Amino acid sequence: MSSFLPFSTGTRLPPCQIVIFGATGDLTARKLIPAVVDNARLQAFPMPVQVIGVARTAQDTETFRNQLQAWLNPEQRAVWAEFAPNIHYFSIGSGTPQDYADLKQELEDLAGPAAPECGRLFYLALAPALFAPTVEKLAAHSMLVDDQLRVDAWRRVVIEKPFGTDLGTAQWLNLTLRKYLREDQIYRIDHYLGKETVQNLLSFRFQNAIFEPLWNRQHIESVEISVCETLGMESGRAGYYDTSGALRDMVANHMLQLLCLTAMEAPGSLDADSVRGEKFKVLSALESFRDSQDVWDNVVRGQYVSTPNLKGYSEEQGVPPRSQTETYVAIRARIHNWRWNGVPFFLRTGKRLNRRFSEIVVHFRVPPVDLFSGPLAADVCRLRPNSLTLKIQPQEGMQLSFLVKQPGAKPIMRQATLGFDYKDLFAGDTTPAYQRLLLDATMGQATLFIRGDEAEAAWRFCDSVRAGWQDPEAPPPFTYPAGSDGPLQAADLFRGCEGTWSAGHE
Ligand SMILES: NC(=O)c1ccc[n+]([C@@H]2O[C@H](COP(=O)([O-])OP(=O)(O)OC[C@H]3O[C@@H](n4cnc5c(N)ncnc54)[C@H](OP(=O)(O)O)[C@@H]3O)[C@@H](O)[C@H]2O)c1
Repeated sequence: MSSFLPFSTGTRLPPCQIVIFGATGDLTARKLIPAVVDNARLQAFPMPVQVIGVARTAQDTETFRNQLQAWLNPEQRAVWAEFAPNIHYFSIGSGTPQDYADLKQELEDLAGPAAPECGRLFYLALAPALFAPTVEKLAAHSMLVDDQLRVDAWRRVVIEKPFGTDLGTAQWLNLTLRKYLREDQIYRIDHYLGKETVQNLLSFRFQNAIFEPLWNRQHIESVEISVCETLGMESGRAGYYDTSGALRDMVANHMLQLLCLTAMEAPGSLDADSVRGEKFKVLSALESFRDSQDVWDNVVRGQYVSTPNLKGYSEEQGVPPRSQTETYVAIRARIHNWRWNGVPFFLRTGKRLNRRFSEIVVHFRVPPVDLFSGPLAADVCRLRPNSLTLKIQPQEGMQLSFLVKQPGAKPIMRQATLGFDYKDLFAGDTTPAYQRLLLDATMGQATLFIRGDEAEAAWRFCDSVRAGWQDPEAPPPFTYPAGSDGPLQAADLFRGCEGTWSAGHE
């Protein structure tokens, strides 16, 4: 038996237990435990915290603690001896009713005298098929019941991604969760929302008055959102990836969240329902593709093939031969509302590309009259002179491009930029996404988590893409050489607009 040990965590609120299901897995070791230790180290938790790792593996707490240590950085290791006694392990065995009854008792025992007021965050770092059954078992033992009118003894559940695999499965999962939990107890995670630059999109747009008047169809020609990776299949991931593909792995969550934050109206406040309500309106206005032809005209899917130095997708370990799974997708999306009607949103994501970067580029319209036109100016003026790039990774920052005249008698225009990098202005690294999100979940702040209706609306759009791909007449994925910038056909999506895909930044 053990109660909450003194540690440099806050004591302003009643204590909380973070119960991680999937405690022996990759996510727990690489992200969750380091995030908890960093929050404790920085005294970010406003309450004393215990962590209880749960998995089927039979092992004791000491072994669990020793395994976790290997994943910590030197700063985290420096406080480990002090924090480790707050970490415990419970083997759930085969998950029988008795196992869950024992878990409930164990949590009460570990909380000790604080048990009646102790909040509990159940973090499901489990395979998606286990989300619903685990919630059902917790509910069967009255472990999810909380009192809305009390600030303590709360119960919340964090659900990892992917949240379903299509609209039907997401609806079913929402229905199942809502049998046992109120919406405000459900925290659907998309770790992109925990990234500093992604949150800064909101402050950039709504705390600065200079861009908002331009942020609409009158002044913006197109918006480009890219999440490009150089990695192919990480070991052991092909099994999951081949059933998912780039559309479901990246577009249904991260990329549509970026689109929402770029396109949404100003919320009334930063509370969870205001922000998520505005995001939901964008997703509701995002046009699903009408039919197969609409998909083939506006979506390019691709798969990387081998080069002398790099394997193709189909040669990667664990990928079924002749797999048609897309490792690249580019979409010309439409938002049917007053602000954005007629402005294409170009989304692109892929694996084994030549550069790793994530960014949003807002392309402004060309000036109505080109006073400097002439043979030498034309090449530059024909391109969009003004764009705003919001850099998400690897560097975080912003860049505004504009034209200046080269000194001399000839009207030669050159592209110039005004730039800002977070690392130059703010010393130290930005807070890792899981650190921020875990803290928010313990504090009951759901703004950076996805609401059930958002998840369903995102799948509705992605399902319309997949319907076009499943048509027997659909062309197979285009191919692109591993290490290139994707299928050439993706450039065709820019028809009617100036320029093509951004080359990105390092
Ligand atoms: N890894 C990442 O970087 C990452 C990133 C984004 C999202 N996610 C999501 O996070 C979730 C976990 O991913 P992961 O990579 O950590 O998976 P993983 O390495 O395969 O770990 C799965 C964990 O679940 C435990 N487990 C299996 N059945 C269980 C049961 N019935 N009750 C309790 N525990 C059980 C396993 O331990 P035992 O065998 O000991 O039970 C193991 O600890 C997935 O939904 C994934 O999509 C992961």
